[in-house]
Amino acid sequence: MAPNRMRRMTPFAILALALLPAFLLSQQPKNAAVIAVDAAHPGAAISRSMFGIFFEDINFAADGGLYPELVKNRSFEFQEALQGWHQTMGFSSKGIDPPKGELDVRTDDPLNETNPHYLRVRVEEPGYSFWNSGYRGVGVKKDAEYRFSAYVRTSGPRSIRATITDEKGREIGTARLEGFSGQWKRYEAVLRATQTAQHAQLNFIVEEPGTLDIDMVSVFPLDTWKHRENGLRKDLVQLLYDMHPGFLRFPGGCIVEGRQLATRYRWKTTVGDIAQRKTIINRWNLEFDQRPAQDYFQSFGLGFYEYFQLAEDIGAQPLPILNCGMACQFNSSETAALGQLDEYVKDALDLIDFANGPVTSPWGKLRAQMGHPEPFHLTMIGVGNEQWGPRYFERYKVFAAALKASHPEIKLVVSAGPSPSGDLFDSAWSTWRQLNADIVDEHYYMSPEWFFANTGRYDHYDRSGPKVFAGEYAAQTIQSTSSENRNNWQAAIAEAAFMTGLERNADVVRMASYAPLMAHVDAWQWKPDAIWFDNLRSYGTPNFYVQSVFANNVGTRILPATPEAEDGLYTSASLDDSTHEVIVKVINNSPAARPAEIRLTGIHPSGTAKVITLGSTDLSAENSFDHPTAVAPQSSTLDVRSGTISVQLRPYSLTVYRIPAQ
Ligand code: AHR
Repeated sequence: MAPNRMRRMTPFAILALALLPAFLLSQQPKNAAVIAVDAAHPGAAISRSMFGIFFEDINFAADGGLYPELVKNRSFEFQEALQGWHQTMGFSSKGIDPPKGELDVRTDDPLNETNPHYLRVRVEEPGYSFWNSGYRGVGVKKDAEYRFSAYVRTSGPRSIRATITDEKGREIGTARLEGFSGQWKRYEAVLRATQTAQHAQLNFIVEEPGTLDIDMVSVFPLDTWKHRENGLRKDLVQLLYDMHPGFLRFPGGCIVEGRQLATRYRWKTTVGDIAQRKTIINRWNLEFDQRPAQDYFQSFGLGFYEYFQLAEDIGAQPLPILNCGMACQFNSSETAALGQLDEYVKDALDLIDFANGPVTSPWGKLRAQMGHPEPFHLTMIGVGNEQWGPRYFERYKVFAAALKASHPEIKLVVSAGPSPSGDLFDSAWSTWRQLNADIVDEHYYMSPEWFFANTGRYDHYDRSGPKVFAGEYAAQTIQSTSSENRNNWQAAIAEAAFMTGLERNADVVRMASYAPLMAHVDAWQWKPDAIWFDNLRSYGTPNFYVQSVFANNVGTRILPATPEAEDGLYTSASLDDSTHEVIVKVINNSPAARPAEIRLTGIHPSGTAKVITLGSTDLSAENSFDHPTAVAPQSSTLDVRSGTISVQLRPYSLTVYRIPAQ
């Protein structure tokens, strides 16, 4: 057919055909950048858990944050047993009135062996009271209900009353526990707040003289995520849920390691009855002289069961990280001898049992007793956090031998050390290649410029070696660990550009997470962080929204797209096999709007494309409690009739196009 048709063409038609490309080009917007996406040749599958969450109990992210207990040091197990607790002082014209009783911390005949301290309250005059300062104050919401509970033992006073007072000392809620005996027993009552207060105070009043022993004193919101009794703070989980993360890494971070081995994270002490979980110091308590947090401990109210449950709730794969017999190499660097590793390895084997084992197995039984007979579907475990050097490699071999022998289905995540290049990094990678490790965790706390310069970092990684987990990254606007770092759009857009490189190389990069995740505005140690909160409110930073936009628009297979990085434009593309969409991500890192043309080949797009735009013309833009979505995704639509789509890229923006395709 074609030759005949050619034969019948007039000279005019031939001329017109020859001039067509030039005509089409002249129809393009001037200087339009061309983004070419080849949907005819999909590449590797993108991991279902590609963009996820790194959670560490740093910045009061657990106690005082995600774990919404209002009472600080509820079990009197902080190093200073009365930290957070105070006697109520009376004042008269003569000065301070002597208190009408005393507080005494005792260990004789305690509630249990793992929680050896309790408070003995000796009341001389009715109305003796003491109070708890909470986590930088106590936040309560008008009409919200709180469960006041405690273990009490007494043959004297018959009741104890809790009150909440606002910043002006006005009572805004009260509840009473009563009916005590001479044996330890738990009591509870519901307290309703009549007003909202950001920095309220919790008071405890005993109205009869005598002696009363009390432990595990708790004031806990009823309105938790999924209304669970030992549940998590709703607004914070909602942010995580909305992000649609592929995995949840927990519990860190350096707290896995501890400053010494004695204070390492041991998952077995974090499960079961909360009154039996052993409180220890938080590794970030003493870390930074400029941000001391002497009241930073771990109650483990948020423990491994709750982490697994959280992962399940938000649709994320669980990724627990375990201590491998090494304390933090930036601190004591204590190491368990190779002959002492049995306990550590057993912890790992038992964890698999706890997560996946049948309810008839010892640890599976505990999981069922805690309320989850079904398995948690654990598929991967981190061996060590941010470790390096030959001591680490030797210890990994011991773990790998035991774990691979009995659980070949579990992938092991290992560390590439604390920095993204250099001798430690190189020696780690050459070891992991030799040992044929499954997944290597790389960390980069680098400048925004580094992130832009490294969008091609994985283009030439060995495809036959271990896979990569970009496990901790965040652009540092000043420098790593500087308390002046900002969560601004300059950092976030750099991370977005870098993430196009992660996505393009999803055959080798299997997972990625920003770090750290959360910070309390009045109690942080480390900046920047994806989510900020106070006692009542929370907001996602621009950096958080970059993570969210990528995780919500990840696709199932990579598509070749050009240019990958050119003249301030960074792109990646994927195909979503389940929704039949081509997903194109474009970052315009320039102060001017830019016309562009997305040219799709290999498919016939038509219909309404979804467009998600995130950006600001101001690189210093940040979110805040007052303006929580100053930089946040905006949705719009675009009619698509052909494979050539003209778009206008906003200045300094990340735009995602979800284009319906046949
Ligand atoms: O994210 C903060 C810390 O940075 C992590 O605990 C540690 O793994 C890294 O050094």
